[in-house]
Amino acid sequence: MSEALSADINREIARRRTFAIISHPDAGKTTLTERILRAGGAIQLAGNVRAKGERRRTKSDWMGIERDRGISVVTSVMTFEYGDCVFNLLDTPGHEDFSEDTYRTLTAVDCAVMVIDAAKGIEARTRKLFEICRLRDIPIITFINKMDREAQDCFALLDEIASTLALDTSPATWPIGRAATFTGTFDLRTRKVTTKDTLPENDPRLEQMREDLELAEAALPEFDRESFDAGHLTPVFFGSAMKEIGVTDLLDALVAYGPSPRAQPTDSRDVRADETNVTALIFKIQANMDPNHRDRMAFARVCSGRLTRGMRLKHVRTGKQFALHTPQFFFARDRQLAEEAFGGDVVGIPNHGTLRIGDTLSETEDLRFTGVPHFAPEILRRVRLDDAMKAKKLRQALVELAEEGVVQLFRPQDGLPPIVGVVGTLQLDVLQSRLQAEYGVSIGFESTPFTMARWVTGDHNKLDLFAQTNRSSMADDLDGDPVLLASSSFMMRRTVEQNPDLAFHDIKQIG
Ligand code: G4P
Repeated sequence: MSEALSADINREIARRRTFAIISHPDAGKTTLTERILRAGGAIQLAGNVRAKGERRRTKSDWMGIERDRGISVVTSVMTFEYGDCVFNLLDTPGHEDFSEDTYRTLTAVDCAVMVIDAAKGIEARTRKLFEICRLRDIPIITFINKMDREAQDCFALLDEIASTLALDTSPATWPIGRAATFTGTFDLRTRKVTTKDTLPENDPRLEQMREDLELAEAALPEFDRESFDAGHLTPVFFGSAMKEIGVTDLLDALVAYGPSPRAQPTDSRDVRADETNVTALIFKIQANMDPNHRDRMAFARVCSGRLTRGMRLKHVRTGKQFALHTPQFFFARDRQLAEEAFGGDVVGIPNHGTLRIGDTLSETEDLRFTGVPHFAPEILRRVRLDDAMKAKKLRQALVELAEEGVVQLFRPQDGLPPIVGVVGTLQLDVLQSRLQAEYGVSIGFESTPFTMARWVTGDHNKLDLFAQTNRSSMADDLDGDPVLLASSSFMMRRTVEQNPDLAFHDIKQIG
């Protein structure tokens, strides 16, 4: 039985590909996502055009967050099959401010596709996202998009990637034609030419391509699996998402050498995807996805074993059993009950607030996945309630939205109204508009004297004493862990110096 199970698991994880697309706004992530989903048969044309229209409006109108609900359902995770593989495409939030959310999503992928605009090269946001991937040595596949327009020279682009990101580049395909004459690609691995138009042997575009190739193959490294897996080398694809050129090259490459599910770190050891004990990590919570049903979806990455519907898993943080009655897969707009899932898969688990970001579910062994952090917020505001009658509702809503990771919530130990902490100001707008739209609570923000927060740990008695002496600067976070709030880095430094027995952290590991 267990041998059969192992064989089953091994076969299934070998065909799992869990990835995210990272890019600077406007490089073509949405377009590429649509083309990929279409190639994978996950969406029909009519549906996707509408989705794109909605997304467009939403992207430029972040205050209309309620409108965003529809599309974020689609984009949190999309599962589809292509070739012999099951793909899980995780969406990274488009806006710069959501760095924590983005970070968490990237902890759940095994590989990232970096989309670059061929005219603009590496842009700020791409670079930032790349750095997050590098922290975890996530392998990167590069897609140079918009080759159907005026673009930079291919060698210059490859050079730029190598020098600005310190990442070796190995061209996987080479473009045939440029700008208006861009018609297809040559695959360096399979030596196959794929073009929109049929080209005669002596077509100048082919001749140019052969000339370039000679140079490229002499000067640039060959694809090396080990360096790719370690995140040191990126295979590079050229294409046009809009014209649907190079998209299947990319998908075929993901099938051929996209990494299968990685081992995931826990507090005690790394958990391999081929282990039979079922484990899963909650990396994202989304509340009120469907405005008609107050549901709350926890997104879990299955890390090992075979998860089946109806199974009971241990919720390690509380020690309680958690029954998986209705785990779900997401196929573009549709949700579907997940009968079974394997390492690398992402399933949605409806729940009423039991599951939190960073939680571990485990069939047998008591372990906790690490690497899903909270970052110390840099902006701290007190919430001002417009209608005092709604205080209770606000309390509940703030907890729910904090659990979802929209903001961090701090309850001052001196009993004053709660403080919310964010890494970027856009999160405040999101909080305000979601409170209004989903809970009917209207709020404003007031400044606080605080500009910094640090989690404090140390000996129980010393910590208590410290909290008593600094009561007006102490707060509890959502989990009840003590946090010191300070008005300046100078004050913070002084407090740290005066309390050598305590530790002050700007990152808190969840779990
Ligand atoms: P994003 O999600 O990364 O922000 O980019 P998105 O796909 O929305 O693309 C941004 C713009 O670039 C869109 O144009 C899109 O059509 C265009 N685009 C994407 N891929 C390609 C490509 O391969 N070639 C060319 N030439 N353009 C591409 P837009 O004018 O902003 O919107 P729309 O009117 O086309 O919808």
